[in-house]
Parts: sequence; C-alpha cells; structure tokens
Amino acid sequence: MNDHDSAIAGTGAGAGAGSAPAAEVERLAHYGNPEQEEILGQDSDAYGVAHLGMSFLPKEIHFGIRAEDGRLVAHTGLRPVTLTVGGADLEAMGVGGVCVAPARRGQGLAGTVVTAALDHARGLGVRYALLFCRPQKAALYRGLGFREVAEAVTVEQPEGRLVEMPLRTMWAPLAQGAVWPEGPVRLRSLPF
Ligand SMILES: CC(C)(COP(=O)(O)OP(=O)(O)OC[C@H]1O[C@@H](n2cnc3c(N)ncnc32)[C@H](O)[C@@H]1OP(=O)(O)O)[C@@H](O)C(=O)NCCC(=O)NCCS
Repeated sequence: MNDHDSAIAGTGAGAGAGSAPAAEVERLAHYGNPEQEEILGQDSDAYGVAHLGMSFLPKEIHFGIRAEDGRLVAHTGLRPVTLTVGGADLEAMGVGGVCVAPARRGQGLAGTVVTAALDHARGLGVRYALLFCRPQKAALYRGLGFREVAEAVTVEQPEGRLVEMPLRTMWAPLAQGAVWPEGPVRLRSLPF
C-alpha cells in the first residue's frame, strides 16, 4: 500500500456538527524542510525555541492534512523514545513538529492531526505519548488528553551533555491503566 494513499478519518477537535467536513489525515511518506515550509512559510523559528540553542531529533513517522488544492496545511510527527523514570525504563512515543498553516489556525486542525497520530501510536501498542512545548501551548495539549510531568526532565545534548529541559513536558496515556510513574525523568536521547 502506498503510504500517501492511506487516509485516516479525522475525528479530532473541531470536527463537530455544523462545522466544515472533518479534515482527512494522511500518513506522509516524507516530511522535511520543504514540507514544513509549505505549512509555515520561511519562518526560521516557527516553534519559538531557537533562543534555547538546543538540538532536537527529527521525527520518524509523519501525518498531515492537505487543503483541497493538495497543499499541506497541518503536520504532526512521531518518534519512539526511551526514558528512565524513577529508575525504571519506559518506552514512549514522542510527539512533535505540530504545526498548522497560519491561515488555517483555530479550525481544529492541530487537534485532528495530533489525535490521528496518537491513534497510530496506540495501534502500535505504545502506552505513553510524550511531548515538549512552550507553556502557552499547554492548554491545547491538555484539551487533547495530555498532562504535565511535574518532575524535572533531563535530556541529552551533543557531546554527551545532560541538561534540564526548559520546555514543559507533557504525557498522555495511550493504554488503559497507563499511569506516569513517579520520580525524576531522564530522556535517553536528544529531545525530539
Ligand atoms: C499551535 C498550533 C499548532 C495550533 O493549531 P490550531 O489548528 O490553531 O489548533 P486547534 O484549532 O486544533 O486547537 C485545538 C484546541 O486547542 C485550543 N487551543 C489552541 N491554542 C490554544 C491556546 N494557546 N490556549 C488555549 N487553548 C488553545 C483550541 O481552542 C482548540 O480547542 P477546542 O478543540 O476545544 O476548540 C498552531 O498555532 C501553530 O502551528 N503554531 C506554530 C507552531 C507551534 O508553536 N507548534 C506547537 C509546538 S508545541
């Protein structure tokens, strides 16, 4: 099956009665700088994290929403990550690269594409989703079922440096009974 043709019903935020038809989410075979520019234009700091000077890993699995003319207007990426929480290893699905074209914001597209990505991760049997965001975006993710990780989160940076994550860390359960363990959190890679 061609990944480009695999449409996933969009049932996320903003798809309620009386609104525009539910946006269709598709798995993207490829997502890089040109695709991000298609959505966000040539904004070198669209995510507002450049001032942190941190290195991030690219996502591995990509979902998008296209406008009627085929242009990408929304994206969410996934990347499996390993953490140590309170001394025990934990596998999670990292969620990132969430973006919507400026002219299409406030229509529920972020909710729709993040929800489809979480459904995919759930289907893979992953129990936790994890993301990093600026505090002003936390409400968006809370509305999608994410909760704040209260403990300090340490992440890796180049040359083996360990730094405390200055962004907010949020997790969402993807399986019944998934409860975030207590204790300090160490991401065993660069952030994503
Ligand atoms: C953040 C971003 C993806 C939101 O896209 P969007 O399509 O406008 O978001 P949605 O319309 O799907 O919003 C989903 C829900 O979150 C709510 N929401 C969105 N932003 C919010 C905010 N700042 N505060 C509170 N609630 C917010 C919406 O009201 C909506 O709630 P509802 O479903 O109950 O109506 C978009 O503004 C963007 O691309 N920003 C630049 C890139 C970026 O910062 N990405 C986030 C990285 S963490």
